[in-house]
Amino acid sequence: MGKRKALIAGNWKMYTTVVDGCRLALDVANACSDFDDREVLIAPPFTILSEVAHVLADSKIIVASQNVCWAEKGAFTGEISPVMVKAAGGSAAIVGHSERRQIFGETDELINNRLKGSLAFGLLTILCIGETLSEREGGQTLTVLEDQLRKGLASLTATDMANVVVAYEPVWAIGTGKTASKEQAQEAHAFIREIIGEIFEKSIAEQTRILYGGSVKPSNIDELMAQIDIDGALVGGAALDAESFGRIINYK
Ligand code: 13P
Repeated sequence: MGKRKALIAGNWKMYTTVVDGCRLALDVANACSDFDDREVLIAPPFTILSEVAHVLADSKIIVASQNVCWAEKGAFTGEISPVMVKAAGGSAAIVGHSERRQIFGETDELINNRLKGSLAFGLLTILCIGETLSEREGGQTLTVLEDQLRKGLASLTATDMANVVVAYEPVWAIGTGKTASKEQAQEAHAFIREIIGEIFEKSIAEQTRILYGGSVKPSNIDELMAQIDIDGALVGGAALDAESFGRIINYK
């Protein structure tokens, strides 16, 4: 089968307010050509989701929320529902980011609920997984990835997987300037694809896009994208600079 369509995603985390966020979104849109082999996604903070979606209405850039609740509405203080994301102009969501897991104590079970709810309302959903430095040093990388993957994807159907993207983000590489080597990333991605094949079937694994995240920069994107099992990137810091993100989007 042909290569999966690439996805270059920018996670703005807790940066930008309306003026600088809309400016950045416009600059990113201007850096995009009419690609047919790749898609671009931006995940701004909730507070400017709607403004950014408005700015990008004439572009093909996908607008995502950085997290999402499973329920349509209800007493869930501090949460945002998939219906709200869609009403604000978004069509995608990120769940399970390591900052949600580590700083806010989100568990695999909670993240699985978020993923199922997000899919139920039709959002393209990026499930993030990744090992910590001590887990890597303890030789537990693959066990941790398998565990997060099996629990994160629990009770999903093969049909659901058409709207799921997995992001491999080694925690030790996030915001540290330390990127996983292309060999380390490829090994993890191939393993993730193998486990998806075990959970569902090989053809589903072959269709699933697996993004790499963790200090992706203009200087390392080309070699990462050249790896057979790397289908895109989830970019933090470098996504806040239109020139850098533009170069990443235009990887060779
Ligand atoms: P950095 O690109 O800043 O390392 O962040 C990666 C990330 O967490 C994207 O979700």
